[in-house]
Amino acid sequence: MNKEVIIICQSMYHGNTKKIADAMGRVLHCEVISCERAKKMDLSSYACVGLGSGIYFTSHHPAIMEIAKTLQPQQAAFIFSTHGAPIQGKYHEPLKTILKKNGVSVVGEYSCRGYDCTGPYNLYHGGNKGKPNEADLRRAEKFIHKRFPQYKKTVHIPDGRHVGIESETCIGCGRCAAVCPMHVLRVEEEKCIIVKEEDCIHCKLCMEQCTEGAIAVKHTRRELIRIAKIHAKRTSLPQ
Ligand SMILES: Cc1cc2nc3c(=O)[nH]c(=O)nc-3n(C[C@H](O)[C@H](O)[C@H](O)COP(=O)(O)O)c2cc1C
Repeated sequence: MNKEVIIICQSMYHGNTKKIADAMGRVLHCEVISCERAKKMDLSSYACVGLGSGIYFTSHHPAIMEIAKTLQPQQAAFIFSTHGAPIQGKYHEPLKTILKKNGVSVVGEYSCRGYDCTGPYNLYHGGNKGKPNEADLRRAEKFIHKRFPQYKKTVHIPDGRHVGIESETCIGCGRCAAVCPMHVLRVEEEKCIIVKEEDCIHCKLCMEQCTEGAIAVKHTRRELIRIAKIHAKRTSLPQ
């Protein structure tokens, strides 16, 4: 777990911003927590804090503002949000002003549209349906990769293999093995091992669950077709 960075997110409306926060957290391998939890924590040990929420009446959630006030001058922050209106405007300014006043450097900002069914959007059953979507999440991940290249992990996958585990990084928590619907992974002697790679359907749940970034899955287009053919014969999940 990355102990240098933490993400604090208040996503009170539709969970739109939480989706972005989780995507960023997966890249950074850091914790994503609520303001309620953050208030009870000492945040001074984190070199960088991500602060995000939906935009509510042209600014971030007041709880995010309160957290921002507690950050120290030696800390850095990145800001993110989801908003309903077609144009973002200066929605980040109030939060940036607080951070700058505290001497906290703002290392980047990300925002995208989020599902909104307030006011006039009700006329057509909500605006920005399906947002943030996959493309927004990929853009959020890209934003993090660009700002924080030091946390980018590349797990080596040996030639001819599709799943790779970095043994030194694996903490043997077993979350990946527990979530794998195909029982491809197992924990032995406090390390995760691959037991049935041929059954892997490349769903990537293991990667999403791994807090350490110790697992990677790769494939070519041809291999994906091969996988589809193998699994086409299945009629239920394996026992
Ligand atoms: C009380 C309230 C006020 C809002 N005010 C704005 C606004 O000023 N500008 C805007 O673009 N969107 C506004 N929205 C839309 C939200 O920013 C948008 O739906 C966002 O994705 C919600 O994020 P969340 O699901 O993480 O809470 C508002 C929504 C609510 C519920």
